[in-house]
Amino acid sequence: MPEHVATAEAHPNIALIKYWGDLDPVLHIPANGSISMNLAGMFTRTRVSFTPGLAQDRFTLNDKTADTPSAQRVSKMLDRLRLMAGIDTRALVESQNNFPTGAGIASSASGFAALALAASKAAGLELDEKDLSRLARTGSGSACRSIPAGFVEWQGGTNDEDSYAFTLASPEHWDLVDCIAVVSQVEKQVSSSEGHALASTSVYQKARVSDAPRRLEICRKAILEHDFEALAEVVELDSNLMHAVMFTSNPPVIYWLPETVRIMQAVQSMRKTGLPVCYTVDAGPNVHVLCPSEVAGEVANQLGQITGIAQILMAHPGGAARLVNGKNNVF
Ligand code: DP6
Repeated sequence: MPEHVATAEAHPNIALIKYWGDLDPVLHIPANGSISMNLAGMFTRTRVSFTPGLAQDRFTLNDKTADTPSAQRVSKMLDRLRLMAGIDTRALVESQNNFPTGAGIASSASGFAALALAASKAAGLELDEKDLSRLARTGSGSACRSIPAGFVEWQGGTNDEDSYAFTLASPEHWDLVDCIAVVSQVEKQVSSSEGHALASTSVYQKARVSDAPRRLEICRKAILEHDFEALAEVVELDSNLMHAVMFTSNPPVIYWLPETVRIMQAVQSMRKTGLPVCYTVDAGPNVHVLCPSEVAGEVANQLGQITGIAQILMAHPGGAARLVNGKNNVF
């Protein structure tokens, strides 16, 4: 192997059009395409060292040995890479999130994107953006969207080859801000993977999926034309549709807390007063409040007056996953 160690960073992303439900749960081929924005300022940094003599892969997250299911997901991706690179050396994987753990920001997207980039480089493979995105997807679906920069579309596709993400617009294209209203830091009861598996039990999933191309087109156009009003309408609709599927799955999945609804309603009221702002909620109770950067201060100020918000994090559009120079990076 020409190189054994590499370090990479990737941002988490917020879905504007959501991925919910799989055609293939093993490869994470989604039921519908999705669109997201990378979140600048927050990242996972991962160092991968293929180490001869290591009996098995070792994975630490924020300096602690990771739980078994997470370690198994990491090894599953490393196995794919070992097969591609024709090696069988085990690896030490050290990951750090710079955003607070339990702040309600899913770290699987940034985590598996950083892992795909660092591990492929350390294994001596030079994968292009498309193949890195495909590889990241096998760790966690939404991770494929954390490989390219800025505003990103995941072309759902139907198989391992045609399911990958690409940039729709650069981070500089539109200075939107995601004001993340964190209402709970408790780990969710139902994981995204479990939720995806339940999606098809809802009678609404078919309608949500068949209407997805229309919503994707509205969202793409709104981003390209900087049309916040159109974006706000389709982003809220898409989030509500996903939660309608969750509520009506068997068993139902309800991620919202009373504070979640309070914030959603406050966002609607802000919009009525003329502020360009909208909400979107992932598989958890925290509310992502999107707005153009000019009004972000005012939006954060108004959110700060709502009771039940533990903290507000702010993120502008972020860049692509990237390698970090030097083999011996100190985290
Ligand atoms: C609600 O990508 O976390 O955030 O592939 O099982 O790891 P796995 O699921 P994941 O699902 C993300 C669900 C979502 C919507 C989205 O990000 O598109």
